[in-house]
Amino acid sequence: MTYSRILGVGSFLPAKRVSNDDLAQIVETSDEWIFQRTGIKARHLAADDENTSDLAVKAARNALQQANTDPNEIDLIIVGTVTGDYAFPSTACLVQQKLGITNRCPAFDIQAACAGFMYAMTMADAYIRGGLCKKALIIGAETLSRIVNWQDRNTCVLFGDGAGAAVLGASDEPGILCSKMYADGEFASVLHMDGRMNNGDWTGAKFINMDGQAVFKFAVKALSEVAKETIEAANFPAEKIDWLVPHQANSRIIDATAKHLKLPPEKVILTVAEHANTSAASIPLALDYDIQSGKIQRGQHLLLEGIGGGFAWGAMLLRY
Ligand code: UT7
Repeated sequence: MTYSRILGVGSFLPAKRVSNDDLAQIVETSDEWIFQRTGIKARHLAADDENTSDLAVKAARNALQQANTDPNEIDLIIVGTVTGDYAFPSTACLVQQKLGITNRCPAFDIQAACAGFMYAMTMADAYIRGGLCKKALIIGAETLSRIVNWQDRNTCVLFGDGAGAAVLGASDEPGILCSKMYADGEFASVLHMDGRMNNGDWTGAKFINMDGQAVFKFAVKALSEVAKETIEAANFPAEKIDWLVPHQANSRIIDATAKHLKLPPEKVILTVAEHANTSAASIPLALDYDIQSGKIQRGQHLLLEGIGGGFAWGAMLLRY
């Protein structure tokens, strides 16, 4: 039986770190308010000349190195992002070119907001198990700072920039065990940026818009349900999960979901304090951070979960 296994993970955070106190100089807020409501202490923001593909390429290089993989061995590239460099071509095509991949492998973006990395992993898993590719480069990368209204304290304190990547390879050893992805467009207006180009003019919103409480309420229920469903579908005992690696949006959502799953806090990977919400980048960033720290070890079982605009959400159980 063919599985998709993570061969290597990498990430990249832009150099500029902005603390809650720094933000309190721009909008009426405080470190106390932000930290109590979200668990966020700081976020990293891309420089003016850094685009999503630049962050993606740096994360990808780290992942390729960890996977001991030459870029031209990659035969599929998927980037999860809502802040691609351009309307088109895809950020994945730019990444292919910047990495010097000349084998003409398929490369495309997936737009599933904060669930983008898991959606991309799920698609790559299907490619690999279906024999369509052998080594896939999966990236979550965002420059959300470009679509955040820095005058709006309701949203600007929540988001950050960054990228994370994984090389997935075909293997006889178990890797991805199960994934369940969902979407419900009925909730499109709860978390969105409904702007677009129209004959040379931008029409509609230029910034992220969110009904925070509605997201919160839906998220805890949906994430708990999909996580349980994923574990059950894999016929995997919940107590054998070594780490919950959740989308890093808000520590209160993460705590509530872990409680529903009866997972103790010691088994939860939490990086939101330093990264804030980096949308599609948050799960691979968290993964890489705690692989590097030594917490996450080879052979351990990880449960990934997250939700974002759409709503789009899901969970994935894998053996690292
Ligand atoms: O990937 C998914 C992404 N989204 C999320 O995960 C968001 C989920 N939602 C949340 O985490 C929370 O709803 C928020 C952290 C966004 C907001 O917390 P809340 O407890 O739901 O606050 P609220 O929106 O009900 O606002 C409470 C008060 C309001 O003031 P009044 O009307 O009570 O006077 C806001 O104006 O807090 C005010 N407020 C702030 N105060 C200081 C809103 N933002 C801020 C701020 N600093 N940054």
